[in-house]
Amino acid sequence: MNILILGGGGREHALAWAVLQNPKCDKLIVAPGNGGISRIAQCAAIEPTDAGAVLDLCAEESVDFVIIGPEAPLAAGVADRLRDAGLLTFGPSQAAAQLEASKGFTKDICDACDAPTAAYARFTAAGPAKDYIRAQRAPIVVKADGLAAGKGVIVAMDEATALAAVDDMFAGAFGGAGAEVVIEEYLEGEEASFFVLCDGENVLPIGTAQDHKRVGEGDTGPNTGGMGAYSPAPAMTEDVTRKALESIVKPTVAEMARRGTPFTGVLFAGLMIENGQPKLIEYNVRFGDPECQCLMLRLGAQALDLMLATAEGRLGESRVTWAEDHAMTVVMAARGYPGAYEKGSEIKGLQDMPETSFEICFHAGTTREAGRDTASGGRVLALTARGDTLQDARDRAYGLVARVDWPEGFCRSDIGWRALSG
Ligand code: AMP
Ligand code: GLY
Repeated sequence: MNILILGGGGREHALAWAVLQNPKCDKLIVAPGNGGISRIAQCAAIEPTDAGAVLDLCAEESVDFVIIGPEAPLAAGVADRLRDAGLLTFGPSQAAAQLEASKGFTKDICDACDAPTAAYARFTAAGPAKDYIRAQRAPIVVKADGLAAGKGVIVAMDEATALAAVDDMFAGAFGGAGAEVVIEEYLEGEEASFFVLCDGENVLPIGTAQDHKRVGEGDTGPNTGGMGAYSPAPAMTEDVTRKALESIVKPTVAEMARRGTPFTGVLFAGLMIENGQPKLIEYNVRFGDPECQCLMLRLGAQALDLMLATAEGRLGESRVTWAEDHAMTVVMAARGYPGAYEKGSEIKGLQDMPETSFEICFHAGTTREAGRDTASGGRVLALTARGDTLQDARDRAYGLVARVDWPEGFCRSDIGWRALSG
């Protein structure tokens, strides 16, 4: 079959790699793709949010199945447009993508189905929001309701920070995303990510991961899209996983179906776990980046079968086969990221990187021209490896990092520290 993947990050390189492991794939196109993806698939220079251009591409290339990687096209309703045109599509409808696109919506769903989450209130004006903060007291968390590229969350350890965050959001710091603000209870504990596939009715867990959001060693400094991740997450014990599934994920999926907006695709629950009890921090309606790089290396060829079963409503008969292994991915970013950074520096050493189901260099923001790889984004590479233990996976992933010759790049040296020290 002919398959189209929308997106151009490390996540989409990992999805592309996994899809190509499966003999069902005859032709793979990725739009827009990146320098690494262009080595293994055909890339098409179109915007994933441009539904018209995506539909034209599908017609030209006789595409049978579309996998949507990032949240922007999902929130823009691209999956609906594709399904309306009769195309088999992996990714939720615009209505179901509200689980990521509106934090207030998700909190109300949690309320309706009794899923454990932080106590909260929704506001459309600064005055009442500030009164609520003064009454609840810091620490407290202030969130822009809409999509803000992972930057719309302020974890305020003191009241002044929380009040300033409210002013910033209503002043338009996050554009339309901040027209409504959610203020919620500060949760303590350990964070973990839980991934399930869902065909509207059936739910199939496909793995757990932990990522490192902060740019600096020891999880310090500003938030990023993610500087590294590992899978499985030790915090997701069998008991915690069962509780997350039964008390959070399944009730959410049932509530979405009850409302007539069933969820299909991958549901990514960001959890906070304290004393063995998981609470929902947020949902994403797509794979995490860089968590996906770990999951795809562990799943391999079956990832395509599972995504097809999801899109065709056949998850009830699907199983996941797991090796008892571990995966880690280490992100290399351009110096300055997540602040201002330069583009265009040359990256050497990528030509003879291993590309096996144990060690692989996934590309994010790279461009390949005339045989040269250059950096064209903030997060640039995701060096990913598998091993029998997390330590093995870590040693292999950092072994790959050592082969990259790119003075303008950096990475954290402590990905997995919490799990490895435990
Ligand atoms: P989000 O974009 O919702 O994932 O939030 C970004 C990060 O903010 C999360 O990964 C958490 O580290 C932190 N965070 C969000 N909500 C809370 C909360 N209620 N309590 C503590 N930390 C939170
Ligand atoms: N790595 C976190 C995310 O993709 O949202």
